[in-house]
Amino acid sequence: MIILSDVSPFAEGGNRKCFVHPDNPNRCLKVIHPGLLEKIKKNKPWYKRARSLESFDDNLREENAYQQKAIINGDVNIWDHLAKWYGMKETDIGMASETELIRNDGEIADTLESYLFKNGMTDEIKNSIAAFQEWLRESLVLTKNIIPHNLVIKKENDEMLIKIIDGLGSQAFVPLPSYSNFFARSYVERRIELMDNRIKWDLSGRKGNWK
Ligand SMILES: Nc1ncnc2c1ncn2[C@@H]1O[C@H](COP(=O)(O)OP(=O)(O)O)[C@@H](O)[C@H]1O
Ligand SMILES: [Mg+2]
Repeated sequence: MIILSDVSPFAEGGNRKCFVHPDNPNRCLKVIHPGLLEKIKKNKPWYKRARSLESFDDNLREENAYQQKAIINGDVNIWDHLAKWYGMKETDIGMASETELIRNDGEIADTLESYLFKNGMTDEIKNSIAAFQEWLRESLVLTKNIIPHNLVIKKENDEMLIKIIDGLGSQAFVPLPSYSNFFARSYVERRIELMDNRIKWDLSGRKGNWK
């Protein structure tokens, strides 16, 4: 079994702790915060409590989301903007998702959010965002709302490639294996529009409602 109890996470999101895999510096292991699922369940209104705890588990949501049509049937370009998925692994602090850890010259990649806070909307990042959105339109990968702290920047040949490291799946209930491309196109277009809104909102000091 993988031992994580004596390793410090390199990052924490709202739902998961992120660790460098002890046996592979290029893999990331994510474990749900202990007690989080029970807390979510307690705070959900009664009618949602009937749903199983698993339905709130971000690792299971992600495992499922990596099985979506666009990824399973996708061509090689599918991984241009998406961290690779290596399955669920048992650790001494619970089940972990194992994914590609995005690095630049050994350093763990920065998020788009931290880039934008540091540098603002440079021409360079504008081009990267446009390329990322073009890939979304072509691949029709379904995501939840795309938030800059769930994207990281991989530097490749003087270019900055945006990669999704969290938030795959769908916003509303969508049967992931069987949706139509017609549906996916308008769904993806809406995610792109909301991504742009979210970036503007982040850059303008987060006033009002970003949607
Ligand atoms: N595969 C990865 N490569 C590089 N950094 C990552 C990766 N996965 C997560 N991170 C970093 O860890 C933070 C939290 O991870 P995330 O998966 O978003 O957790 P949560 O599910 O709690 O939101 C991210 O904002 C990012 O900075
Ligand atoms: Mg996140």
